Amino acid sequence: MENRAIFSIIRSVLKDKGLEGKSHQDFIDRFIGNAELLQYLYSQLYSNKEAFNHTFKGILELIADSYIERSPFFKKRDKEKDKKDIWFLSNKLAGMSLYVDRFSGSLKAMPDKLNYLQDLGVNLLHLMPLFESPVNASDGGYAVSNYRVIDKRFGTLEDLKSVQLALQEKDMYLMIDIVLNHTSDQHEWALKAKQGDPFCQDFYYLYDDRTIPDRMEAHLPDIFPESSPGSFVYNKEMNKWVMSVFHNYQWDLNFTNPEVLKAMLSNIFFYANLGVDILRIDAPAFIWKQMGTSCQNLPEAHVILQLIKASLEIATPGMAILGEAIVAPREIMEYFGKGFLANKECDLAYNASQMALQWDALATTDTRNMLANQEIIQQKPYGATWINYTRCHDDIGLSFDDRYLEQLGYTPFLHREYLKNYYAGLIETSPSRGELFAVNPRTNDARISGSLASLCGLEKAIDKKDSKAISTSIDKILLMQVNSILLGGIPMIFYGDEAGYTNDYSYLTEPGKSYDNRWMHRPVIDWKKNAKAGKKGTIEHAVFKGLQKIIGIRKDYDVFADRNNVNWLESHNRSIVGFVRSLEEKQVFCLFNYSPEPQNLTYYVFYSVRGHTDKLYDLWSENYIKIGKDHEHLLFKPYQFYVLLNNKNG
Ligand code: GLC
Repeated sequence: MENRAIFSIIRSVLKDKGLEGKSHQDFIDRFIGNAELLQYLYSQLYSNKEAFNHTFKGILELIADSYIERSPFFKKRDKEKDKKDIWFLSNKLAGMSLYVDRFSGSLKAMPDKLNYLQDLGVNLLHLMPLFESPVNASDGGYAVSNYRVIDKRFGTLEDLKSVQLALQEKDMYLMIDIVLNHTSDQHEWALKAKQGDPFCQDFYYLYDDRTIPDRMEAHLPDIFPESSPGSFVYNKEMNKWVMSVFHNYQWDLNFTNPEVLKAMLSNIFFYANLGVDILRIDAPAFIWKQMGTSCQNLPEAHVILQLIKASLEIATPGMAILGEAIVAPREIMEYFGKGFLANKECDLAYNASQMALQWDALATTDTRNMLANQEIIQQKPYGATWINYTRCHDDIGLSFDDRYLEQLGYTPFLHREYLKNYYAGLIETSPSRGELFAVNPRTNDARISGSLASLCGLEKAIDKKDSKAISTSIDKILLMQVNSILLGGIPMIFYGDEAGYTNDYSYLTEPGKSYDNRWMHRPVIDWKKNAKAGKKGTIEHAVFKGLQKIIGIRKDYDVFADRNNVNWLESHNRSIVGFVRSLEEKQVFCLFNYSPEPQNLTYYVFYSVRGHTDKLYDLWSENYIKIGKDHEHLLFKPYQFYVLLNNKNG
C-alpha cells in the first residue's frame, strides 16, 4: 500500500462509522497521528500477504468500533488519566495479584474484600485469569477456551463489571490478563480446527509429520520439561502435530496469520472496554516463531506489541499494557520499545531480574550481583515503569546476566546450583523450604517454587517452634518486600504474602494441579488467619503491619514516584545494598542488610551523594540517625533496613 493511501482509508472508515464530528476530534487526531506508524508496523509483519489491504482495513475498522463501544465514562477516565503526568508512574499505586476463587471465593464476594485491601494500602487489583478454561487442563486459567465468557467457577461477566464498579467507586484500579500466545485445545478455534475447518487450522501451527517439529525442537528450550516435554503435541483427529510450547493442551497461536492478530486485538479491546486499567500480556516473548531460533524475543514479537499499543493509544488510551516477559535482563529492556519506538511498546514490564537478584542476595549474603546488574536495569526509558515484586504465582527463574557473575568470580552454573539447592532446602544450613520446578534432566536447569514466607524460613521455623528463627524469617520477608516496594515502579504483592502464608500442599491431591508444584505457593485464603493481622504478637500482624507501613511511606513521599530517580550506591560492604531516591532537595536513602550478621556502613556513602545533611530521619523506625564526623559507621542488625530521609521538614 502506498504511504498516503492510509489516510484516505482512515477517512473512509471514519465516514462509514459516522465519526466525523467535532466531538470525536481527539480520537480522529490520535488515529491520523498514529496512522503511518500502524501501517509501518503492519507491513513489518505481513508485507507479503495477499490479504494485506483487506485485513489491515479490518483492523482499522476494529479500532473505530472499539472507540464507538467505549462507554462515555471510560472515555472521560481516559482524559483524566491523560492529565495526570503519567498515571502509572505514581507512588500512590500499590497492587495485589490474586486468584478470585482462592481469595474471596467468587467475583460476587470480591467487593466485600476491598476494605481489607485498602487497609493494606492496595489500590490496584490484579485478578488472575478469569475467562473460561477447562477445569483440569487450565494452567491456572492460562489455557483459555473462551475469551469472552467468565468461567463459572468465578461468576459471570456481570459480576466482573460489578467488581470494576466497586473498584472505581473506591478509586482503585483493575488489571487482568490476556493470554496472547496460545489458546486451550478446547477453544472454539481449536475444536473447529480438529474438525478440519481450514480457516481455524490456520490459527495454529500444524504439521503433517515430525520433520519441522524435530528441526524446530533442536533450538527450543523446554518450558515444562517434566509435565509437558517437547514443544509439539500429536493430535489424532487431524493426524497432525500441533505446536504447544507450554503445556500440551495450550496450542500456540499462529500470528503469521493476520486474522489471528485481528481476532486477538478484538479480545484486547473487549477487555479495554470492560474498564481494565492495566492489561497484563501473558508470555509475549513467545508470540513469534522462527525456525532455527529459540522462538523467544524475536523482533516480530516486539512489532506485534507495538501494533497493539498503537491501536490502544488511538481507541482506548487509558488502558496501559504490561508485558510479562520473564527473560534475560537485557531482553526485558527491549519490551519498553527502543529507538524511535521507545515508550511505544509495553508501558510496564516485570522487574524479574531485580526479583531474582534479591533472592540471590538473600541466599549468598552478597549483594554485588544485584548492584552490577543495575547497569542494565537502569536503562529503562523515562515514561515506562516496572512492576516490582518478590513473589508471584509463578516459579522463580534465575535469569540474571552470566557476565556479571563471572566478573564477580562466580561460576554461573555452580552459582545457580547453589541457589536452587538453597531454596529447595537441600543444603543443610538452609532455612528455606521450597521445591525445584521444571527440572530439565538434559540441561540441569530448574526453577524454584515456594511461598515468600517458606523461602524465607518461616515454615521450618514454625515447625521447630523456634521463636528466634520465626522472628528472623519475618525480618527477611520485610527486607525483601521493602527493597522491592521502594524501587521505581508499582509494587505488586502476591496475595497471602501479606499475612505470612507458608506453602500450601493441598494441591498434591487435586487433579489438574498435582503435577505442577507452583500451586504450593497459591494458597486458599483462610480469613480467620488473615483476621490475625489485627492481633498484636502474631506473625500475621507483624508481616501485615510492616507491609502496610512501607506502602504508606511510599505513598506519602513523591520521591518514590518513578521519575527514573533511583541511584544505586556503592556501599563498600558486600552485604549491604542501597539506593537513593531523589526529587529536588529531597532524598531518601534506602539501605538493606542481606546478612544474618550485624554490619557497618561507612558514612562516606552519604557524603558521596550530593545534598546529604548530617541529620537523617529513618521513616521506618521513626527516629533520627545522627551522622557526625566523630562516628564512622551506621550500624545494621541482621537483615535490618533503613529508609532515611534527608529533609524531614523540607
Ligand atoms: C505465563 C504465566 C504462567 C503460565 C504461562 C503459560 O508465564 O504467568 O503461569 O504457565 O504464561 O501461559
